[in-house]
Amino acid sequence: MLRAMQVTQQAGLQLLAWLHLAGEVDGQPAWPFALRLSGEVMLIDRSVARALLAALGYTAAALLLALLALLWRRARVPLCALATALLLLTPWPDAGLVTAPAHPTSFHVSPAAFSAASIVRGERIYQRQCIACHGADGKGNTPQALALPVAPPNLSSGLLWRRQDGDIYWSLRHGKGGMPAFADKLDVADSWALIDYMKANAAGVGIADTGTWPRPVALPDMPLACLHSGAAHTGQWRGQRVRLVVGRDGPGQGEDPRLQSVLLGAPAGEAVGAIDCASTNADSLRAIAIITGTAPDKLAGTELLADRDGWLRARSSGGAWSQADMLCRSPLASGAAAADSTAAPSAPDAGGLGSLIAAMDADPVRFIKGGFVH
Ligand code: HEC
Repeated sequence: MLRAMQVTQQAGLQLLAWLHLAGEVDGQPAWPFALRLSGEVMLIDRSVARALLAALGYTAAALLLALLALLWRRARVPLCALATALLLLTPWPDAGLVTAPAHPTSFHVSPAAFSAASIVRGERIYQRQCIACHGADGKGNTPQALALPVAPPNLSSGLLWRRQDGDIYWSLRHGKGGMPAFADKLDVADSWALIDYMKANAAGVGIADTGTWPRPVALPDMPLACLHSGAAHTGQWRGQRVRLVVGRDGPGQGEDPRLQSVLLGAPAGEAVGAIDCASTNADSLRAIAIITGTAPDKLAGTELLADRDGWLRARSSGGAWSQADMLCRSPLASGAAAADSTAAPSAPDAGGLGSLIAAMDADPVRFIKGGFVH
């Protein structure tokens, strides 16, 4: 239901734009209303969702009666009366529970997607414009921040995952509370790059603090140079699992039929294992350093695994894979995995990549942003 609500709003906005009824802001159709539908309360309180469904049911029934009235002349008066009564008596849930304040850019999405180049570009701008208040780790414990009447929020908490990207974008462009507006200092691409960087950095700070990715982070899109396959960037592999191997393509590594492999920080095909594709671009390595909270020179030997939906899920620092390498899992699945490991010894294929892939596939990422499950 939440997904349907979100898709309906997006489709409605496209339709308005197509009919020239919605203006444009920064190259994308602008949301023309002060509110948007939001699932935030419904995710916590099912009864609000049920009330909304019931109200929609009443409305559908009223429409059906009105249609019948059109077709069935003799019963027109009572049918119309019934439809009107239904419409008037529909018990809509309180508007505050199903809507949230909206900005013209609430439904904007990043045109650069989440790319390594954009993350690195964002890092440079962040260090110039934002670090004084928000700090390198985004936690906002800087002297300048503590002097503000309202302290900045912790950007490495779940904030960037809860809010819609378009709403964060609006805050950056037009300011919020104690934060100045940056619309005349930063262009559109700079602003999106900052959002990409803040997400990547929050993931790295999460690893440094807790040893896991507390919230899902995507595999950044990276340019590829492949010897045999025709792939030009990792985004083309959506629907397939991807493994990144940093700096070392040792014997016994090479290609694996279950995954697409990419070598970072070394030319493709040169090393022993002969992984076909490499991303030699400096941004790729830098972006991975940010996301893993690890200095680039300490990354050699690291491998990362992304699932079929493009979420980074596991990291190994060399050696065989084990279940402990899974850094991004749902709270439910981590409970189950803990129970499993105490109950039964693993299957033969277990150690290693096989069971990790099985665990990853069995526990797909479903995360919530702006009150909607993605
Ligand atoms: C003068 C200090 C200052 C600077 C510079 C600054 N911020 Fe902020 N930022 C704040 C404060 C204060 C808030 C809290 C605003 C509020 O919610 O009232 C904030 C909030 C935010 C938020 C949360 C917005 C939301 O919608 O809740 C984001 C994201 C953010 N800042 C990113 C940035 C980025 C990126 C930059 C650099 C381009 C930056 N900030 C520069 C002080 C600053």
